[in-house]
Amino acid sequence: MSKKLPDQTIKTELLIHDLKVPISVIDAGAKSLLNRQDSYGPLTEKQVKVLKRILRNTLTTQRLVNDALELGRSREGVMITSDFLVSSLVISVLMEVFDLSNANISDIIRQIESYEELCQCVHSSGLILCFNRETWQTTVHQDEAKVRQILRNLVTNAFKHRANWIEIAGCIEQQCLVFRVKDDGKGIPPVDHQRIFQTYFSGGVPIDSAIRSHGLGLAGVMVLLRDMGGELILESDDGKGAEFIVKIPI
Ligand SMILES: Nc1ncnc2c1ncn2[C@@H]1O[C@H](COP(=O)(O)OP(=O)(O)OP(=O)(O)O)[C@@H](O)[C@H]1O
Ligand SMILES: [Mg+2]
Repeated sequence: MSKKLPDQTIKTELLIHDLKVPISVIDAGAKSLLNRQDSYGPLTEKQVKVLKRILRNTLTTQRLVNDALELGRSREGVMITSDFLVSSLVISVLMEVFDLSNANISDIIRQIESYEELCQCVHSSGLILCFNRETWQTTVHQDEAKVRQILRNLVTNAFKHRANWIEIAGCIEQQCLVFRVKDDGKGIPPVDHQRIFQTYFSGGVPIDSAIRSHGLGLAGVMVLLRDMGGELILESDDGKGAEFIVKIPI
C-alpha cells in the first residue's frame, strides 16, 4: 500500500474497489434469470427487456469502476504492458461502445472476421473506419487497458456529440500509435479548448444529460496520456465538428 497517498484517497479507492463484488452479484443474478429460464422459470417479453436494461447498466457501472481504478494505478506509475494487435484493440472498443447503444451490432462485431466486413457492419451506424491493412495487423506493446480507456472515451464522446457520422482512423507514425476520432457535431469553440480537459467540465449540459455526463472522461484521458508519455491534439471550432488526435508511444 502506498504511503504517499493521503488516507482519504486510499479510502475512496478502496470503496470503489469494493463496489466490484456487489456489481458482480447483480450481474450474475440477472444473467442467470435471463439465460437459464429452464431452471429459473420462463420470462415475459417485458421482463426480458428489464433484465437486459439491468445488465447494460451493470456493464456501465463495471466500466466506471475499472476506469477509476485504472486512473489510480496510472497515478502510481503502474503500467501493465503486453503485446496486442491494433485490430483487437479497436474491435474491443467498438464492442464496448455498441454494447450500451446497440447490443445487436455488438454481437455481430464479436463474430466478424475481416476488416472489410467490420467496416460494412458499422457503416449503417454512421461509423467510418480508416485503417490501412498494415496498421490493422500491427502488434504493439503498450498498456492495453489504458489505451482502450482513452480510445473508448473519445469514441463515446464523438457518438454523443455527432450530427450524423464519426470517423476513427489509426496509423503508426514515428514509434507512436496514432488515433484520430472525428465527428460532424456542433464542435468546441476555442474558448473551451482547455476547459474541456478539466474535471467536471461538461459544457453546461441540461440536468438530465448531466447525470450521464460527468465531465471526467477527457480529464482521465489526459492523466493516462501523461503517464504513458503521449499527447493529444484537438482540432475543432464552433459548428465545425471535433477531431481529437492522440499519439501514444509504443
Ligand atoms: N466530440 C465532442 N464534440 C463536442 N464537444 C465535446 C466532444 N467531446 C467532448 N466535448 C465537450 O467536452 C466536455 C467534457 O468531455 P468529457 O468526456 O470529459 O465529459 P463528458 O463526456 O461530459 O462526461 P463523462 O465523464 O461521462 O465522459 C463534454 O461535456 C463536452 O462539452
Ligand atoms: Mg465523455
